[in-house]
Amino acid sequence: MRKFDPWPIFFRREWNRNWPFLVGFAITGTIITKFSLGLTDYDDAIADEIRAVFCSYATNTDKSGTEPADPFVLTTPLYYVNAPPHMGSAYTTIAADAIARFQRLLGKKVIFITGTDEHGEKIAAAAADGGSSPSEHCDVVSQAYKTLWKDLDIAYDKFIRTTEPKHEAIVKEFYSSVLANGDIYKADYEGLYCVNCEEYKDEKELLENQCCPIHLKPCVARKEDNYFFALSKYQKLLEDTLTENPDFVQPSFRLNEVQGWIKSGLRDFSISRASVDWGIPVPNDNKQTIYVWFDALLGYISALSEDRDQPSLRTAVSSGWPASLHLIGKDILRFHAVYWPAMLMSAGIGLPKKVFGHGFLTKDGMKMGKSLGNTLEPNELVHNFGSDAVRYFFLKEVEFGNDGDYSEDRFIKIVNAHLANTIGNLLNRTLGLLKKNCQSTLVVDSAVAAEGTAFKDTVEKLVETARGHYENLSLSSACEAVLDISNAGNSYMDEHVPWSRFKQGGAASEAAAKDLVIILEAMRIIAVALSPVTPNLCWRIYEQLGYSNEQFSNAAWSDTKWGGLKGGQVMAQPKPVFGRIELKTGTEDGGEPAAAKQVAKKKEKKAKAQAVAEA
Ligand code: MSP
Repeated sequence: MRKFDPWPIFFRREWNRNWPFLVGFAITGTIITKFSLGLTDYDDAIADEIRAVFCSYATNTDKSGTEPADPFVLTTPLYYVNAPPHMGSAYTTIAADAIARFQRLLGKKVIFITGTDEHGEKIAAAAADGGSSPSEHCDVVSQAYKTLWKDLDIAYDKFIRTTEPKHEAIVKEFYSSVLANGDIYKADYEGLYCVNCEEYKDEKELLENQCCPIHLKPCVARKEDNYFFALSKYQKLLEDTLTENPDFVQPSFRLNEVQGWIKSGLRDFSISRASVDWGIPVPNDNKQTIYVWFDALLGYISALSEDRDQPSLRTAVSSGWPASLHLIGKDILRFHAVYWPAMLMSAGIGLPKKVFGHGFLTKDGMKMGKSLGNTLEPNELVHNFGSDAVRYFFLKEVEFGNDGDYSEDRFIKIVNAHLANTIGNLLNRTLGLLKKNCQSTLVVDSAVAAEGTAFKDTVEKLVETARGHYENLSLSSACEAVLDISNAGNSYMDEHVPWSRFKQGGAASEAAAKDLVIILEAMRIIAVALSPVTPNLCWRIYEQLGYSNEQFSNAAWSDTKWGGLKGGQVMAQPKPVFGRIELKTGTEDGGEPAAAKQVAKKKEKKAKAQAVAEA
């Protein structure tokens, strides 16, 4: 007889907040369950109960329209440690960090989870190839991830390694709970396995010679006596869940893909390996280890477990679950939008609120990856161009959700044009004029300076637009909106020509001094609004505006409201906040960079002429 837990973990977490609702729900639920048990199949009763758990949770968050008091918990995938990180793996983490910083600006308590996925055949093979033990190998590569995150200014809250004892304890507890729910059974399995995906493949999706379409390497035939998870049992429930919660998978075009998979029929999948030693032993059968995906997905929950606590699924779940957002690449969507929800349903745990599958960074149209060996070195990029440039380029230039190609020329052109010129140069010019004409001191409050101008409205609208885009995870459009504030500032400067009005003296000179306050207030707003994407650059802007590091750290999204700069505030000595990156002299085909260099030279000439006029 299957055991049914009448007190799912989800309810425990909700108890404190919604107890009157839950009491009513429990009574009704018990009556309905008892009634239906007498008349219908026991499985249907369980399915109804689980559906009710998910739906009550989904209705609470979707319809209320108010911000829940829960923390904003977001996750990156846990990265395989078969090789050091590359730009593709860094991409998700940069995006997650920008979203986490934005949510913190809104005043939310954020729990940003990342980590490394360290078990399985692929990792054991990589360790053996390198001549080290799996655990030594994992220590080294996991540390390489942590170092890169530091260099990229990734402010994560939790870093989980799937080899940590607390994770192992939670995986075993979860396995036992799914087993107790009757969803695990033993059977033979024969199929084609891609070691790089760590997944059995359907023959239909393979290329010639049974090659995996992602890794372009032949899959190997495997036959094993494994433990299986009864995924097929959740087919209807998953279908209904996605229909009722269309925002669960984003972007929306990926939802169709997921719905297609489910419709075409879900097959139970193997969750243990008899042939792999490097993994968590199956409870009560130490001849098998738990399948690496069944193990790793639980890292999102075990990460919530505090080191000081006795590891327990229940305590971990009550420390922030369900996650608000899983950020992943599109290749691992099936695991997150099909397998994971079904696993959670089986264990009676609430579902994450959203799974966002972004596109690939490509090189020559192919997914950049460790297995194909066509990666881009993030350490090198950060070393050469700095973390702001790397973060900005990938978030601004790759529309979040779609694929995006990298080229060094484009990288340099974009960051020079946007960060060095449009933003950096505007600040520098304005501070130069303020120093020369106003002893680097603001003459009036920015609120007063903006009276009667349309500029303030333009900035406020753009800030609102940026906020909306950040909230919808349209990170590229959020950058665009903030950049438009600076574009508006440059146009304002060109139209009002303060440098020549200072020369006229009297009222013209007073108006020019106000114009500088207006531009600098716009720069202050940019520094807050772009800080999720380029935190260092934004701090340097803030510093130039005469603020302390503490003031920058305490800035909130509400500080994007017009009027922060006050008369009498003294600005720092003007110095460039973003140094231009020099273009290389040519490429193998000799075309683009030379042309780009000419454009850069023309721009340089224009800037010099401008500087002479403003002097
Ligand atoms: N270990 C699993 C995830 C387990 S999560 C519980 C895994 N690891 S991975 O290291 O192979 O990939 C991690 C993430 O990096 C995936 O989201 C994947 O899509 C992303 N990327 C890897 N190469 C990428 C690109 N070239 N471009 C963008 N993202 C890519 O899968």
